[in-house]
Amino acid sequence: MNYIVLSLLVLSPIKSVISGNIFEAVKDQNLPLKQNDATVNNFTQVTRKLGYETTVFEITTEDGYISKMFRMHNPNCTEIKKKPIMLIHGLLESADAYLDLGPGAGLGYLTSDACYDVWFPNIRGNYYARAHKTLNPDTDREFWRFYGQEMAVYDIPAFIDFVLDKTGQKQLNLVTFSLSGGLFFMTTSDKPEYNDKVSLYIPLAPATRLKHSKSTLLRLLATGGSILDTLKPVTRLGEEILYRGSGVQSLMELLCSLPNVLKGPQTVCSGFIGLLDSFHPGSISAETDSRVYFHFPAGTSLKTLSWLGQLIEKKTYQKFDYGAKKNMELYQCETAPHYDVSKMTVPTVTFHGKHDHLVDSRDMKWLLRQMPNVLEYVVVDDPLWNHLDMVHGSDAPKLVYAKIMDYLKKYE
Ligand SMILES: *[C@@H]1O[C@H](CO)[C@@H](O)[C@H](O)[C@H]1NC(C)=O
Ligand SMILES: *[C@@H]1O[C@H](CO)[C@@H](O)[C@H](O)[C@H]1NC(C)=O
Repeated sequence: MNYIVLSLLVLSPIKSVISGNIFEAVKDQNLPLKQNDATVNNFTQVTRKLGYETTVFEITTEDGYISKMFRMHNPNCTEIKKKPIMLIHGLLESADAYLDLGPGAGLGYLTSDACYDVWFPNIRGNYYARAHKTLNPDTDREFWRFYGQEMAVYDIPAFIDFVLDKTGQKQLNLVTFSLSGGLFFMTTSDKPEYNDKVSLYIPLAPATRLKHSKSTLLRLLATGGSILDTLKPVTRLGEEILYRGSGVQSLMELLCSLPNVLKGPQTVCSGFIGLLDSFHPGSISAETDSRVYFHFPAGTSLKTLSWLGQLIEKKTYQKFDYGAKKNMELYQCETAPHYDVSKMTVPTVTFHGKHDHLVDSRDMKWLLRQMPNVLEYVVVDDPLWNHLDMVHGSDAPKLVYAKIMDYLKKYE
């Protein structure tokens, strides 16, 4: 199985030749590449076309990174509720993830339809967040020398402060998915004052300690240097990886948009998910799949993947390990410091699936044991519920979002 992944990744450099030709061939046969409609493809276009009022803001972090944040309102609401809601996407995703299930189902739509003031930030490195005050992401390698730490101490605080400042509110309600679920624990571990700015925290399958992760792809990263060397050729600048337009994304976009009669490519499409997560046959609709792969993976730094590999290898939730000498300089200690998840004191409702191979139940329980303020730990009522089902599963509105909406109402 590992070879499939590697060959997918290695296809990248010759992408312009290979996938370019595949796309041409497909167009010739008139197969429906509906997602290739370049006129309606980004967050603002999709939501505005459906009649929502979407505003774009540019956020600049303390360390100079610039990203787009969207604010969405349903114009049919006579009054928009005061307390803002922020939905933060997961690794290799963007704000678009909360729209992938489509109107009436995606959490971005449901919350807007319930007349909330909904904000969608983008974490550094994805296609809505590839900008900087002084660094050029296309030419400066320095731009890409970040991992979860910078996302947690610069991006998340900048997002929260911006929204509170703009709305004049003292607190917001926060929903996160996967990596960003872990990020808020890292934010509060280093900057505990951010606990006071969130009234309710709803992490969906938060990725913190990954000791027991069963994800084939993540496990592959944990093999350390060798895999990272293998990945180098498929990066831009040796740093940016799995970006939109990369061979992997283009190939997945193509395979996942082919009609069902072409069973082979469809199997590769669900197989990719199976390698990252677990198999949950039939959970994600073909329509959602084609939306997802139009923008997933959305790009990140190789350093982020390298850090995730370290988390698996070292079995702890800790900062980047640079080796004893540099650790000493940076951390005044030969080993990398751990994040203290017990400092996250916001009332929390967390959701997890029994069949999540990325975030294992044992790691979830490790986290819960240390959290001082758990309102509810919800194990989703479907034995095959996996990680990505939280944002892409057809049953997410029924099995997950209905409860989220109840809690948001209590804390509005
Ligand atoms: C969406 O695409 C349009 C057309 O290319 C562009 O003008 C707009 O800035 C894009 N919006 C975002 C948020 O990137
Ligand atoms: C607003 O209401 C109209 C009439 O019911 C409906 O057609 C439209 O889709 C609604 N807009 C949104 C963004 O929900």
